Amino acid sequence: MQKTTEQIKYKSVQTVFNKPFFASSDGVIKIYQNDAINFLKSLPDNSVDLITTDPAYSGMNQMLKLGKGKIIGTYKDKGENGAKWFEEFHDTEKNYAEFLNECKRVLKNDRHIYIMFDSYSLLSLAPMVRQIFDVKNILCWDKANIGLGHYFRRRHEFILFASKGKRHLKSKAIPDVWKIKRVTKIKYPTQKPTEIFELMIKGSAEDGFVVCDPFLGSGSAMIASIKNNCNFIGCDISEKSINISKQRAEEFFKTGKDILQPQSLLSDDNLTNKLF
Ligand SMILES: C[S@@+](CC[C@H](N)C(=O)[O-])C[C@H]1O[C@@H](n2cnc3c(N)ncnc32)[C@H](O)[C@@H]1O
Repeated sequence: MQKTTEQIKYKSVQTVFNKPFFASSDGVIKIYQNDAINFLKSLPDNSVDLITTDPAYSGMNQMLKLGKGKIIGTYKDKGENGAKWFEEFHDTEKNYAEFLNECKRVLKNDRHIYIMFDSYSLLSLAPMVRQIFDVKNILCWDKANIGLGHYFRRRHEFILFASKGKRHLKSKAIPDVWKIKRVTKIKYPTQKPTEIFELMIKGSAEDGFVVCDPFLGSGSAMIASIKNNCNFIGCDISEKSINISKQRAEEFFKTGKDILQPQSLLSDDNLTNKLF
């Protein structure tokens, strides 16, 4: 049977997407340019030890009418064509269920998953996680200083912590509020402090675990994995994200320095700081 143009196009895109955009020489780090769901579909069952991720929810921007609807500072790229800073994941219930089911399929048994949520998606999408994983807690990232916001100034985000099967945390001394300052002078919109991902890893990973982030952004979860002796596999749909993450990893391997976050962003919280 003759293939349609669509089938041929799809196949060639898949072939390119299945090749890592960047892999460290020892193969410990692999990053791909791909859509999160396509990427997860390309991974074998039970191949990942920990998922730590921060999706680009579209709901918040579409549904919450905050000021001019801008959530993340200057939402439009400063570039010529007014392109968005980054793509949003279409977080319809159907897409989100597919995403969660793929996360479950690729995650090994008795392993953990951490998913970041803004206030809107916490109400709309987070309940779906309970249908697929065992939700254990909702953690709070306390950004230490207030940010923008009309109805109370924003100072926090949520992280949903869940498991596939049974697994204890590595430490019983980690609080459920993490006081970590924001990244200032970000080179990538929504760049998160590496310490957030480090705490997830410190709670849930052993050396050599494969950590996965299908919404890579600037690669903060990748750097956190390298710092904590874990392997890492991740993807992002944006070329900008993949380029910046590649450069960040290469520099980190060469110099031991994180070019996107040169300083620790830990705040004045002894319980959290003790873990670093
Ligand atoms: C909130 S940001 C992640 C930030 C990251 N945690 C960091 O610290 O830099 C979400 C990312 O999801 C990416 N994204 C949006 N839609 C996507 C999709 N369908 N598949 C994969 N990545 C997507 C965006 O390009 C963006 O980089």
